[in-house]
Amino acid sequence: MNDANVVIREVLLRDGLQNLTEFIATDVKIELFRLILASGITNIEFTSFVNPKAVPQFADAARVAQAVVPITPPSVHLSALVPNLKGAQLALDSGVRNLEFVMSVSESHNINNVRRTTAESIEELRRILELREKYPTMAIRTGMATVFGCPFEGKIRPAVVLQFVRQFYALGIRSMAIADTIGSGNPYEVKAVSRLCMTEFPDVTFSIHLHNTRGLGLANAFAAYENGIRIFDGAIGGLGGCPFAPGARGNIATEDLVYMFEEMGIKTGINMDAVLGIPRYLRGKKSDLRFSSSLLEAGLPKVLGAITKDGREQKWSPSPSSA
Ligand code: COA
Ligand code: ZN
Repeated sequence: MNDANVVIREVLLRDGLQNLTEFIATDVKIELFRLILASGITNIEFTSFVNPKAVPQFADAARVAQAVVPITPPSVHLSALVPNLKGAQLALDSGVRNLEFVMSVSESHNINNVRRTTAESIEELRRILELREKYPTMAIRTGMATVFGCPFEGKIRPAVVLQFVRQFYALGIRSMAIADTIGSGNPYEVKAVSRLCMTEFPDVTFSIHLHNTRGLGLANAFAAYENGIRIFDGAIGGLGGCPFAPGARGNIATEDLVYMFEEMGIKTGINMDAVLGIPRYLRGKKSDLRFSSSLLEAGLPKVLGAITKDGREQKWSPSPSSA
């Protein structure tokens, strides 16, 4: 489906699961992937190639990859998170070609999260980029964690963020993620960082990754949209959080994002009914999961649609393909 105006990157299978202490069975992860595909979502981060001692949830990354790579249509962007060269190699060996390299723009969170200084992480990225000779179709996006605040250092200045963007750009990276790992940004900060990044680097595609720790997730997503960002991470059910960031809470729920955009007449190409079925499936497998999603709690209103920015009245359907 693609007359969409925005892209939602589904991170349930990565960020959404990484903070759960109980292991989610591999076949459940694979079924979740199928359900996500069936909902019309076209951009999926499906696992993390990390040290299984650090995040046991992803000990099955290669097995999940084996199952999902062959069933992913070419129109769907499939990616996995990698924090180091070893993770990149494992992902490539498993047939994954889109790598999400993660590092923090805060020194202390980077050390806590990936046990490296930021300079060492950039060096690691350089070595990963050398793998392009052997894997010419490999693509790398760099994710910048803790852009709006670090659990150890507090606020991060936008100038610091820009220094990392410049380093990535110099290495040839043209796709980057701005991440509010602990959900501490506000809409003006989102506006400031988005504008700074997009003004200096108009040829870079920036996406945004938001956590709804204190309820500002959707306000921040709207601020990002108004300032030109068109790719938004979400986790179905509002699950998520970094295990190495004290106090981290869930991502903005995909269904809440879809609802906000569709209500404003901004097309997502996603089948809302199908998305809402996914937490129901997951709860059937693990009944004590705590979701954080307004749409799951309240359900859809009887009449969908509103007045759009230019004053048009519009309606939308939660099941666009069957409408
Ligand atoms: N995937 C799987 N195993 C890995 C790995 C990877 N990406 N990187 C390292 N390992 C293994 C090594 O083989 C080694 O195994 P061994 O103990 O059997 O010999 C062990 O992990 C230690 O290797 P080392 O290179 O010293 O890694 P490290 O201990 O410095 O860990 C990270 C670095 C980044 C791999 C680790 O801190 C990590 O996985 N962090 C998780 C970060 C995360 O997921 N955060 C949330 C998302 S942002
Ligand atoms: Zn996150």
